[in-house]
Amino acid sequence: MGFTAIKNILAGKYENQEVNVRGWIYRTRSSGKLAFITIRDSSGIIQVTIAKENVPAKDFESATKALIESSAAVKGVVAKDKRAPGGYELRAKSFEVTGNADVFPITEHQSEELLLDNRHLWIRSRELVNAMKVKASLLKYCREWFNENNFYEVTPPTITPSACEGGTTLFEFNYFDKKAYLSQSAQLYLEALIYSLERVWSLTPSFRAEKSKTRRHLAEYWHLEAEEAWVNHEENMKIQEKLISHVCQKLAKEDKDELVFFKREPGTLKNIEPPFERIKYESAVKILKDKGFNFNYGMDFGTKEESALCSDIEKPVFITNFPKTVKPFYMKEADEKTYLCADLLAPEGYGEIIGGSERETDYNKLVERMKEQNMNMKDYEWYLDLRKYGSVQHSGFGLGLERIIRWLCKLEHIRDAVPFPRTINRVYP
Ligand code: 4AD
Ligand code: MG
Repeated sequence: MGFTAIKNILAGKYENQEVNVRGWIYRTRSSGKLAFITIRDSSGIIQVTIAKENVPAKDFESATKALIESSAAVKGVVAKDKRAPGGYELRAKSFEVTGNADVFPITEHQSEELLLDNRHLWIRSRELVNAMKVKASLLKYCREWFNENNFYEVTPPTITPSACEGGTTLFEFNYFDKKAYLSQSAQLYLEALIYSLERVWSLTPSFRAEKSKTRRHLAEYWHLEAEEAWVNHEENMKIQEKLISHVCQKLAKEDKDELVFFKREPGTLKNIEPPFERIKYESAVKILKDKGFNFNYGMDFGTKEESALCSDIEKPVFITNFPKTVKPFYMKEADEKTYLCADLLAPEGYGEIIGGSERETDYNKLVERMKEQNMNMKDYEWYLDLRKYGSVQHSGFGLGLERIIRWLCKLEHIRDAVPFPRTINRVYP
């Protein structure tokens, strides 16, 4: 007889049947001849009732002694019971403690620092388990969408000879006695790959030496990026709208339990359908001024400005046509002052989740811009080559997975969208 997932028992599929369950002790309490032990597996939590007279003597003894987070294998009969959390309980016939736990270092109401020091254990918590499940679903639905829309998944490098997003957030390291950098974005490599595959996407870690402590920046995050040949700025935004809408529809349908755990009403995700509003940076400046911000044309949005722009909207919104001064070298110009680019801001004040643009295809313009920004041309020769051998109109975007999870799961801090967060003051564990 195999093992049954707790979720399936709670779904009512096994009433009055004998099942085997294995997992970890979540809560435990006993009185005399009766023990109540809740067991969690990856799918759910169920109460196990152990009556001394129904199990072998050694089982009862080890069950009542076992501390929380001990692992256990149980055989029992499923019984419907209104008093049990989840509506079903397991009446044990045997209870084997397979791995005893020491006193668990995490109890209720711990400091954030202690939880982070014990992250390898805290990832067992319901908060993190549910966030990881939503992330796994998000990845599944993104992959699904790209497969259905003729994109090839590719595997760009994460060790690079140069910056993509500017030098200030670059991690440098010694690469066999040369300088190399951890990738900030796969974009430049994806741009090279469209000449082979036309529509490509990748999922890689991206690294940003973010010097500031914020609730939405990680030093290492998972970056989902796409690049599309023959596609302009407007079509690029349409692709983003469709992708975001697809994952929201799927999550609302397939992942209700996890969303509800985070108090995310699935219905709010069902409403996320194209088109998303487009607001030019210039108009966004006006909106901010009207809201009392001391913000002028040419400045970049900080957390507060972004939140103000997206706090009372229900669908994501594109802020387009940023001034050249606040964006990287590779974007195509819309006019003398601005680029054909867009940041997608999530609703409810969560801020930027995607950055994208049409790319500059003109060799001379790129060279000029790179010189203005004192970039080392030698490092980018290969990239400039792309404009020499069959340059085509193309666009792309990058989506921060943890940023989206933070919005979807209403997380206070982005670090809870990743199991082992890397931030300015933490690389352990
Ligand atoms: O806006 P960014 O810097 O754009 C790029 O890297 C482009 N080269 C992407 C492309 O066009 N292929 O980063 C893209 C997204 C942001 O919108 C944000 O969601 C996320 O990456 N991001 C971060 N997420 C977590 N921690 C950080 N420090 C992040 N920096 C950016
Ligand atoms: Mg950005």
